[in-house]
Amino acid sequence: MANLYDGKMAAIYDAMYQTFVNYDDEYAFYNNLITENNASSVLEIGSGSGNLAKRFHKNNQNYIGLDYSEDMIAIAKERNKNGTFIKGDMRDFQLNETVDCILITGRSTSYLISNQDINKTFECLHKNLNNEGIIIFDFIDANRFIPFTKENPVITHEADYQDIHYIRESHWDTNMSLENFMLEWSAKYYALINGKKEMIENDFSTVRVFTRNEIELFLYLNHFEILQTIDRKTYAYDTYVIVAKKIKL
Ligand SMILES: C[S@@+](CC[C@H](N)C(=O)[O-])C[C@H]1O[C@@H](n2cnc3c(N)ncnc32)[C@H](O)[C@@H]1O
Repeated sequence: MANLYDGKMAAIYDAMYQTFVNYDDEYAFYNNLITENNASSVLEIGSGSGNLAKRFHKNNQNYIGLDYSEDMIAIAKERNKNGTFIKGDMRDFQLNETVDCILITGRSTSYLISNQDINKTFECLHKNLNNEGIIIFDFIDANRFIPFTKENPVITHEADYQDIHYIRESHWDTNMSLENFMLEWSAKYYALINGKKEMIENDFSTVRVFTRNEIELFLYLNHFEILQTIDRKTYAYDTYVIVAKKIKL
């Protein structure tokens, strides 16, 4: 698990991502899919610092957020004073009531690194959905991302937060000894102080990217029928977004 979502890094994450993710567009995109599929109650997994939650609340939608990180949830609650956020793990959670739609946003599927993680997550989504319920999630496309990391060994993102300029340098290592299409992601965070780069965090995490066929098979094995596959470019990654319907057992 990355340190990126803990302590002071949660606030820096929140600031940085708002500069390179357009959360209005992100909300419009997901909300269209939700409405097209006649879903009303929504659980967002990987709700993070509550930027999408804010848009769901503004439109008075029936929304719950779930995240692993207490610090991200604290920011989400601060942003959405009346919102419901659960600290939980997508691989093992139980809602009080089932919902019509479960979203996994912001490429949070990248943290499902083993096949067991993925199967446990889909099993959990299945049992927390209403009959005919849908899941919507994105994942990083291995076939495009791995060559991209080879051609771009260091990827830099910059953002301003509370009058400080932050720089993030990311490097993804396709360590061939790792299982599946796992990558070691190292991200160095710097603050620019008096014109000099000072390192504030050196974050390491193992993430996984997927091929489309892998995801199709995992869904089949876990009793979901794919309704739509959308090829979607996000700020730094080529992703697919899947909409799939629960098959009643
Ligand atoms: C890249 S962030 C995305 C946050 C938000 N969706 C956004 O777009 O800004 C990934 C989020 O997934 C959460 N996360 C990672 N693994 C998780 C797990 N197993 N269960 C629940 N949340 C998890 C992290 O704490 C983090 O908030």
